[in-house]
Amino acid sequence: MRLYVTGGTGLVGSNIIRLARARGGEIIASQYGPEPEWRVDYELDPLNLADHDAIRASILKYKPDAVIHCAAILDQLFMRANRELCWSIMVDGTRALAEACREVGARLVFVSSDWVFDGQVDLVDETSPPNPVNFYGVMKMASERDLAAMDGLDYGIGRLAGIYGLNYAAPSLARMENGLGFDFSVYVIYRLAAGLPAEVWTGPKVNDVAHPTLASDCADMLLRLAAHDGNGVFHCFGSEAINRIDLAHQIAAAFKADPALIMPTRTDQAVLDEYRHVGIPYRTRMSTERTAHRIGRRAFNVNEGLTKFRAEWDEFWR
Ligand SMILES: NC(=O)c1ccc[n+]([C@@H]2O[C@H](COP(=O)([O-])OP(=O)(O)OC[C@H]3O[C@@H](n4cnc5c(N)ncnc54)[C@H](OP(=O)(O)O)[C@@H]3O)[C@@H](O)[C@H]2O)c1
Repeated sequence: MRLYVTGGTGLVGSNIIRLARARGGEIIASQYGPEPEWRVDYELDPLNLADHDAIRASILKYKPDAVIHCAAILDQLFMRANRELCWSIMVDGTRALAEACREVGARLVFVSSDWVFDGQVDLVDETSPPNPVNFYGVMKMASERDLAAMDGLDYGIGRLAGIYGLNYAAPSLARMENGLGFDFSVYVIYRLAAGLPAEVWTGPKVNDVAHPTLASDCADMLLRLAAHDGNGVFHCFGSEAINRIDLAHQIAAAFKADPALIMPTRTDQAVLDEYRHVGIPYRTRMSTERTAHRIGRRAFNVNEGLTKFRAEWDEFWR
């Protein structure tokens, strides 16, 4: 399969490229910012998703069989300050990509998010109505709707949640601060390994209960989706929901670190102030049954994911 990946320098995209390379596929990746830090033995094509003509030109140039569209902006404060630009990249850019895919007959896998939901209803599934509480979720929902409304488009919408893992294309980006959850596992691992307390925010403005998802595992789910022939929404995230404190304890167990260093803490006041206008779903518990049935596997549960992550971590830093 000739696979085109957007966001190949990202956490998810780098895992997709790594897995697809190991499986021997032909890969083209769009490149936005700095070059990847790993050895590039696949095609790179510079692309800013705000440039919609360039999106079409790139897809027509490579005529892939499938496109996995990972690229996105995840910084909530940047989104709040730059709504038009982000809409152009995230919503209009996705539509331009979908139109180009339809033109060349490529299947499009659009990477969406559990944050299309508000976190107020348990066990929502692939058919449940979304109700985003922030601009990011609104943009993901708008793209999902756009794709579903396009006649003749071969597409899958792969929703992800709480990604953790190694960004193989940009390991120097591993951030260790306790952000709003995206680098939570890496933060906990580094702190505990150094014998330092790991603060786990439990107050508002954190996605406390979520489905942690190992990046390499959802990469496999998304590659399955690229080879699948069904349209619609797929829940490609970890099959178990857990709160942050329990997750920190499971990370400590997987990495054989001292759980006594895990410190439940109220969310930092500066973050509460900065994010006062940004809605963050507190508890997102969803069903993955339909997707497991449709694509032939469920993603890892927490223990399975962390066990695999430990193996990846040890191999990477050896
Ligand atoms: N991380 C999570 O917990 C999570 C949860 C649910 C859903 N998701 C979704 O999963 C997907 C991948 O997320 P991730 O964690 O891998 O994100 P990430 O590590 O931040 O990667 C984002 C990618 O998008 C690229 N990008 C940003 N702006 C661009 C633009 N204007 N044109 C082209 N490319 C651009 C970035 O390129 P540069 O590196 O060059 O800047 C990077 O490769 C996203 O669609 C995200 O919404 C993530």
